Amino acid sequence: MDVVLVGLPGSGKSAVGSRLAARHEAMFVDLDELIERRAGRPVPTIFADEGEAGFRRHEREAVLSLGPADPDSELRRVIATGGGAVIDPRNRWLLYRGRFPVWLDGSPEILANRLRRSPNVRPLVAGGETVDTLRQLASDRRRFYAPALQISGTVHLDAILRTLEQRIGDGPSPAVTLLRADTAIGRVEIGHGIAAAAVRAALTRGEARRAILLAEPRSWEVAGSGIAATLSADGWPVERILLPRGEEAKRMRVIENACRSLARLHVDRSETLVAIGGGALTDAAGFVAATYLRGVAVVHVPTTLVGQIDAALGGKTAVDIPEGKNLVGAFHQPAAFIADVSYNVTLPARQRRAALGEVVKMAVLGDERLLELVEENGEAYARGDSEPIESGAVAEMVERCAWAKVEVVTADARESGVRRTLNLGHTIGHGIEAAAGYRSILHGEAVACGLRGAFAIALAMGLTTTERADRVNRLLDQLGLGLEPPAVTREAVLDHMATDKKHALGRLNWVLPTDTGVVVRSDLPPEAVDAGLAAALRVARGNERPAPAGPRSGARDS
Ligand SMILES: NC(=O)c1ccc[n+]([C@@H]2O[C@H](COP(=O)([O-])OP(=O)(O)OC[C@H]3O[C@@H](n4cnc5c(N)ncnc54)[C@H](O)[C@@H]3O)[C@@H](O)[C@H]2O)c1
Repeated sequence: MDVVLVGLPGSGKSAVGSRLAARHEAMFVDLDELIERRAGRPVPTIFADEGEAGFRRHEREAVLSLGPADPDSELRRVIATGGGAVIDPRNRWLLYRGRFPVWLDGSPEILANRLRRSPNVRPLVAGGETVDTLRQLASDRRRFYAPALQISGTVHLDAILRTLEQRIGDGPSPAVTLLRADTAIGRVEIGHGIAAAAVRAALTRGEARRAILLAEPRSWEVAGSGIAATLSADGWPVERILLPRGEEAKRMRVIENACRSLARLHVDRSETLVAIGGGALTDAAGFVAATYLRGVAVVHVPTTLVGQIDAALGGKTAVDIPEGKNLVGAFHQPAAFIADVSYNVTLPARQRRAALGEVVKMAVLGDERLLELVEENGEAYARGDSEPIESGAVAEMVERCAWAKVEVVTADARESGVRRTLNLGHTIGHGIEAAAGYRSILHGEAVACGLRGAFAIALAMGLTTTERADRVNRLLDQLGLGLEPPAVTREAVLDHMATDKKHALGRLNWVLPTDTGVVVRSDLPPEAVDAGLAAALRVARGNERPAPAGPRSGARDS
């Protein structure tokens, strides 16, 4: 197995790494030296010639050149990384998976002192404000280093060796945590194969005396039963409450039954519920947690891509009533959000494809790398290939979407400002879903139609370019999203849009794409709306298709 040392500039990765390698007769690899050898230039010159983005490209190639992790339990290599190498989610996937990452942590003041004495030039801390720069880097990168074994203060080589030797005895772990952060909206953890251990840790942090797992039959089968088995094997008493599968979980009588089960188990306010399932399950179980005893803690373990990139994050919980979807709910932030991307393997093709509609939306909000990722991997993921999961592409998609949502929700938890931008594609999308009675079309499929509509409106208003709109429409075509006209009428969609929650002061607030992000506008000319509806419904302007309208009306945000 390999040891990977991460940490800020000046944390001693090269010094500790070479000593560790010597003591174990392992090979020492300094990633920056590897980059310099491959590029034939020193790091500061690469920065000067190609900027930070160019350097990061060299860095990624150097990480790739390390090859796959060695499953052997003998210590083979000690790899000292550059301080920023693990910013890139794919580098973390390659460096942390099947390897043993160690984080050499140190206070910015001590690191700054060391750097002042060091003959090496570090491009990102070369200016005068070293301590301030290091403080900023520490706060920006903490979530990337946190999954590694943290060694704080002065580094004791013996302490690293002792932990390492014990870990080598356990054999390499098949699980990998890629990101861990304590945020204003709860702990966020993303990884592969991490759920059981992360749930156990969350329950321990919450001083729980037992595990109360809420799931539905399918999510229990693919995720809950495994988590329960691990917890039981560790001595935790486990209680299980099963809700119905899919949207059926979001019914008032289901909530009442779940609360009655909790009452029969004498669950008190100090306890923590664990919600395991897709967006419907976490919406319903989140609502139970928000209301039972006026609120108990909940840990979300989303098992669908929709749940991992969106539904289980941000604290919105809701149930449906006959008058509309998500009409009753509460804001209730989870104590922890645990996205285990390994659960994507069993997701049905249609669920995968539809979820990618939301991923494309997140990309259009302003993440070019995410757009490229979906262009390169979306089709294969939707087909059910394992390669995008095995290569770390899906983990990167989940991280990019989830972290963007964390940032937006942290800034605006109750959707009074920037959080509204997440509704890109939803104005028409919700109208279509509601007009279809939430039966024939999945949310992500409707959002994809809404995105096509939003681009047509933005084009009509000169907010974006044909190239940009073509690129996104081509991607949606490739993913098979919004190709067929949805079975709804234009009038029904318009009707439902008019009752949507985003209807402010008599005018709809539209989130519209530009070439680099979005703008919010309410001054749309009727021709632009017409163009948007025509593009979303795939009909000639002004036409409509006869179709059955659903029994329920109000389109409400997710
Ligand atoms: N709260 C929010 O912010 C928010 C955001 C978006 C969507 N939502 C809500 O989320 C719901 C949709 O969520 P969803 O798309 O995850 O659907 P879902 O929860 O209904 O799950 C879809 C299907 O996948 C199955 N499933 C779950 N995990 C699986 C796995 N790992 N492998 C195989 N099958 C699995 C389920 O049994 C179900 O049949 C809607 O009710 C929507 O309103 C909420």
